[in-house]
Amino acid sequence: VTLGRIDHTAIAVSDLDAAVARYAALLPDAAIERTAVADQQVEVAFLRLGDTALELVKPTSPDSSVARFIARRGEGLHHIAFEVDDIREALLRLGDMGFELIDREPRAGAHGLVAFLHPRSTGILVELVQHAVTY
Ligand code: CO
Repeated sequence: VTLGRIDHTAIAVSDLDAAVARYAALLPDAAIERTAVADQQVEVAFLRLGDTALELVKPTSPDSSVARFIARRGEGLHHIAFEVDDIREALLRLGDMGFELIDREPRAGAHGLVAFLHPRSTGILVELVQHAVTY
């Protein structure tokens, strides 16, 4: 398995407007894109920086796993996402290698297919991203 570049680094926040304002001041050249990911009960903002991005993630429901993360640990580093070419193949091979998969099948993310590896095997929540092909 080869993981590509770091697609994005995600920070859990409880106030997305305040966080966007803070990071936009810190990163004035970043292009900002906001979107909601309904099935994960989060609202996100991507601050794109060259070939990587910072993702600010805010829970939209107390049932969201991000809400539980913030309740337990406070705001802070939530996950790192690596780009992969073929997410299904990556999941099969990482599973065979003994990594604990949260998702055996990829699901729809903000920019394509995503799947998560459990922090028990990686130290931090890891996301795999296979970008949607655009023609
Ligand atoms: Co992410």
